Amino acid sequence: MLDLAGVSTRYGANPMLRDVTLTLREGEVTCLLGSNGSGKTTLIRTIVGLVRPFAGAITFRGDRIDRLKPNQVVRRGIGVVPEGRRVFPRMTVEENLRMGAYAEWRARDLAERMARVFALFPRLAERRAQRAATMSGGEQAMLAMGRALMSRPALLLLDEPSLGLSPLLVEQLFDIVQAINGQGTTVFLVEQNARKSLAIAHRGYVLQKGEIVGAGTAAELRASDVVRHAYLTT
Ligand SMILES: Nc1ncnc2c1ncn2[C@@H]1O[C@H](COP(=O)(O)OP(=O)(O)OP(=O)(O)O)[C@@H](O)[C@H]1O
Ligand SMILES: [Mg+2]
Repeated sequence: MLDLAGVSTRYGANPMLRDVTLTLREGEVTCLLGSNGSGKTTLIRTIVGLVRPFAGAITFRGDRIDRLKPNQVVRRGIGVVPEGRRVFPRMTVEENLRMGAYAEWRARDLAERMARVFALFPRLAERRAQRAATMSGGEQAMLAMGRALMSRPALLLLDEPSLGLSPLLVEQLFDIVQAINGQGTTVFLVEQNARKSLAIAHRGYVLQKGEIVGAGTAAELRASDVVRHAYLTT
């Protein structure tokens, strides 16, 4: 569904992603493991058009998307939960969700889209008039995911959605990611929580200093030395 072929980026003179090649298969959950500063967020930002690669190509459903603007990428069917969630603090839950459908602001089925989000996250329905800034961390995580789903993406990119959440909430969040995938959405899951992501992922990649150093099915990665030593030590 999405292919990166030899993608390289730099920040000023500093190279970041080096010759990254990876494939996300339709209908699957693919996870990306990597330590702090390895380039995971840069990779997400590159896919959505916020960072321009100086080499390589990104293809989504057969079309090049690496020269598109972020709003055009969203319109093609790619949704993102950015690092740190970035909900609009002064807006209510409902307003935040509406922003998620901004690429099609005349969508007639806005209410239906919102109802589907509320079905996944009943807590958001209870709090639809509450300002995002006053929501708990877990509720903001749900809101960020709900907002991304409002554009009805075929591919959902998640940048460390579980960061800072309690173990119970992390558990719930991963269940929801799995449910979203079960409803047909392809998922790219960037996570530090290797154990949990490999438990729900079909396949994964390991990023180290901007380079892909490991790839395989979830079972292969769980068994590999690089993953066991660096990411499954606890
Ligand atoms: N706008 C920028 N300008 C310069 N350097 C940047 C910029 N954004 C990121 N970097 C650098 O690129 C490297 C990769 O950053 P990135 O945010 O992609 O890492 P990450 O894998 O997401 O890390 P984390 O797990 O901490 O979120 C880091 O060394 C970071 O300092
Ligand atoms: Mg990051």
